[in-house]
Amino acid sequence: MNNLFQAERIDGKGFAANLVERLADEVRTLKTRTGLTPGLAVVLIGEDPASGVYVGAKHRQTQVVGMHSFVHKLPAETGQAELMALLARLNADPDVNGILVQLPLPAHLDTHAVINAIDPDKDVDGFHILNAGRLATGQDALVPCTPLGCLMMLKDRLGDLAGLNAVVVGKSNIVGKPMTQLLMGENCTVTVAHSKTRNVAELCRTADILVVAVGRPELVKGDWIKPGAVVIDVGINRVMRDGMSRIVGDVAYSEAGHAAAITPVPGGVGPMTIACLLANTLTAFRRQHNLQTNPAIAG
Ligand code: GUN
Repeated sequence: MNNLFQAERIDGKGFAANLVERLADEVRTLKTRTGLTPGLAVVLIGEDPASGVYVGAKHRQTQVVGMHSFVHKLPAETGQAELMALLARLNADPDVNGILVQLPLPAHLDTHAVINAIDPDKDVDGFHILNAGRLATGQDALVPCTPLGCLMMLKDRLGDLAGLNAVVVGKSNIVGKPMTQLLMGENCTVTVAHSKTRNVAELCRTADILVVAVGRPELVKGDWIKPGAVVIDVGINRVMRDGMSRIVGDVAYSEAGHAAAITPVPGGVGPMTIACLLANTLTAFRRQHNLQTNPAIAG
């Protein structure tokens, strides 16, 4: 990085810490008002180390805000019927307001069927087909956590997004597609790029807002970024550099000094994802108990 690096570093870690503090306040207030404690159930199947780390972080943060955390760790060979039976129990449990099944699942399990077996009102990942449809049609949805966190940071930095050109690189169900829907909901002009897109660099150069979620280390180079753009880097990639293991994003951060602002990796989007999961759990709790939604934390 040189002296000409002028881009503002978007402090996702600080933003998330602030949100978590407000959520903890909300949980305290709700406990006093209702005598109830919101609860989140997380289901982890198998031994994937990265998934284990994410689930551990979700468990700790859930407890930090004063909610109940129920972690269900099942062996990799768990069958579809056994998993469905667990989800049916969690759907029926009044102490569980949110349910998340950590992805990816072992190959023998049917991911779509598993996600769609979660009660849509407890689907704090926002992956259920009903929530995806609600989001796509502008109805009240539980919204996937990572794109929700990205949108919060974009609105904080830019205010009104209407009329801006947004390019989303990546078309996954977890990030790219819901991000596109959220940006359309803000009246952006949205283009989606993916691995088969021609002239992806040229397309990115048209973006006032560039969101990159492909899982390819430093794919986006400095000259793909329009001067003054706001860049959201969703990638978390472990690479070896000079014999050392490092985490880098999908954007070559050191080349992005001419952007107006960019999220760092780590410390950008990652912390916001868990904070938004907790916000979604609180939203689900409120809806299940017909309590008014707090717009400050509802995304
Ligand atoms: N694996 C990677 N990201 C996610 C996520 O946001 N939710 C779930 N359930 N699994 C994931």
